[in-house]
Amino acid sequence: MRSLPPAGTVEIAPSILSADFARLSDEIAQVEAAGVRMVHLDVMDGHFVPNITIGPPVVAKLRACSGLVFDSHLMISSPDEYAERFVDAGVDHITFHIETASNAAALIDRLHEMGVTAGVCLNPPTPVEAVAGVAALCDMVLVMTVNPGFGAQQFMPEAARKVIEVRKMVPDSVRVEVDGGISPQTAGTVVSYGADTLVAGNAVFSKSDRSVAIDALRKAAVR
Ligand code: DX5
Ligand code: ZN
Repeated sequence: MRSLPPAGTVEIAPSILSADFARLSDEIAQVEAAGVRMVHLDVMDGHFVPNITIGPPVVAKLRACSGLVFDSHLMISSPDEYAERFVDAGVDHITFHIETASNAAALIDRLHEMGVTAGVCLNPPTPVEAVAGVAALCDMVLVMTVNPGFGAQQFMPEAARKVIEVRKMVPDSVRVEVDGGISPQTAGTVVSYGADTLVAGNAVFSKSDRSVAIDALRKAAVR
């Protein structure tokens, strides 16, 4: 099991949602070669979000091909029911949506007992108060800066400002991740708000040279 990079660095987490799904292992190998430490796996169930992506069997096959930290983002209605299957498939971190959890603290505890790190996620309309009771129990808190379901959407500046509040809620050891519309144009803003983990799908995988794309994000992501 791999761990999230210790807080204190800004990390780019390429999202495979914008990669070529017929060549996922090659796509992940390219971002690994570009020096990222983690890759973001978007799991969608067609219920919580209006799109369907990958499940545990695909994750397990990818696990055999990559040494990167697998940062899984479960956009599913029943994270309690499926968490263990994703852990068994080889993810290192599980983020679930606070909107879906019946008992978020209990699920965070279960994830830790299963040996993975844990995170909660807030959709753009969800107020930061929704995670106030559990944010400090997490290893990473994810603030969505688009409505989840699709890549290459427009960054939502109002949603991004919630990062400032989340950052105040958690110890420095907890990562704050942003997801949606992150590009060299928006990366500096979210880092100035306190984000240290930047998911980027379209900004990485729509570019032919993934190293160049990742370097552009790193250069823009300065505090
Ligand atoms: C959206 C997903 C994101 C998505 C981001 O529902 O959670 O991880 O891949 O895509 P971009 O970076 O293209 O906005
Ligand atoms: Zn995501």
